[in-house]
Amino acid sequence: MYEQLERIRHILPTRVQNRVDEVLEAAEIFVAMKNPNVLRTMAPSAVRGLLLKSGKLNDTSDMQANHTAHFNWTYPHDHPEMHELYERAKLGQWNGSSLPWHTSVDPFDPNVPVAPLDMVDLAAAKKVGITLKESEQTKMMHSISSWMLSQFLHGEQGALLAASQVTESVQFFDGKLYGATQVVDEGRHVEVFHRYLSEKLGKMYPINDNLFVIIDALMTDSRWDMKFLGMQIMVEGLALGAFGFLYQNTREPLLKELLKYVIQDEARHVHYGVLALKEHFSEHISTKEHEEREDWAYEVALLMRNRFMAYEVYDDWYGGTSVTREQWRQLVTTSPGMQRFRNIMLTRLVPNIREIGLLTPRMRPHYEAAGMGQYFNGLAAPELTGEQMIADLDRARAA
Ligand SMILES: [Fe+2]
Ligand SMILES: [Fe+2]
Repeated sequence: MYEQLERIRHILPTRVQNRVDEVLEAAEIFVAMKNPNVLRTMAPSAVRGLLLKSGKLNDTSDMQANHTAHFNWTYPHDHPEMHELYERAKLGQWNGSSLPWHTSVDPFDPNVPVAPLDMVDLAAAKKVGITLKESEQTKMMHSISSWMLSQFLHGEQGALLAASQVTESVQFFDGKLYGATQVVDEGRHVEVFHRYLSEKLGKMYPINDNLFVIIDALMTDSRWDMKFLGMQIMVEGLALGAFGFLYQNTREPLLKELLKYVIQDEARHVHYGVLALKEHFSEHISTKEHEEREDWAYEVALLMRNRFMAYEVYDDWYGGTSVTREQWRQLVTTSPGMQRFRNIMLTRLVPNIREIGLLTPRMRPHYEAAGMGQYFNGLAAPELTGEQMIADLDRARAA
């Protein structure tokens, strides 16, 4: 069935080809999943996100939460490192309204690009048979920047709601106090990204289907550690890489300043996730449960890396034209800026997966086969503060 569809899809009209392409892409996720538990927990979210397109149908989405709110009436100081993070978070608070919002931003100015021009460039487009006129390059740059920042914004809304859930369900009392600061941080991130998109870029894209799947999966999972793994390690880890990429590559000063502050908050968030999970994974779960988490993390890493294809920009630019979804995918896969973007996301993520013990000898060959072996030895969140991260990015930029 699968092969037959593959054979005939090139002779179908573009609209039908695209629908077949979409269904096959979604099916690939199910076929590739080896662990039945991962498949069972991820499948309902994948159906909602990829096939029903729940993130795009309406202005609002309701996700059924199933976790337990955990109280402790003795108020213990039960985790000194989390307590220290809480102290640091209180000192690190900043006001989104105080950013230099008066900065004038022209998102179409190629001399002050918001995102690098080679994220989707003329040469790469030509190679896959898409004609992009020179005059369209800055318009495309504007679309790509708006798309990236829109996904950051939607991810931040996921983080805001997930941080609230995690604060309810976490077993450590010091974690609850720390979690309260993260909720405020994420609220501020929603504020600044939304303001930048509406006041400076004037364009917003809907949530990417794969991002919706991941958020849906962790919001509806009843297990607190899966929420931590999904949000604090996977989504936050990837976001940290993505923010770092844009911080390093943007020439627009307001965005750079905004990202500098957000990155320092996010570094604390990932650090918290690592602290909470390291001990839990090594001491409190069975081998079978451990393996499920190893597989889940790997599937999500792949989902984010391979499937963050900016189809929302495709729909905007080429929906209803003869350019196919498959051509667009090739363009996004081969554009040099997009390749750097995907790579840098993983430099922050994979070392944290290692740090919480999920990069086991059983999993290493899978990561290596997927081209992620080069990130095994990077620095994990506890070894790197937000300030160091910014200094590193500045150094790499200057080199
Ligand atoms: Fe955030
Ligand atoms: Fe965060």
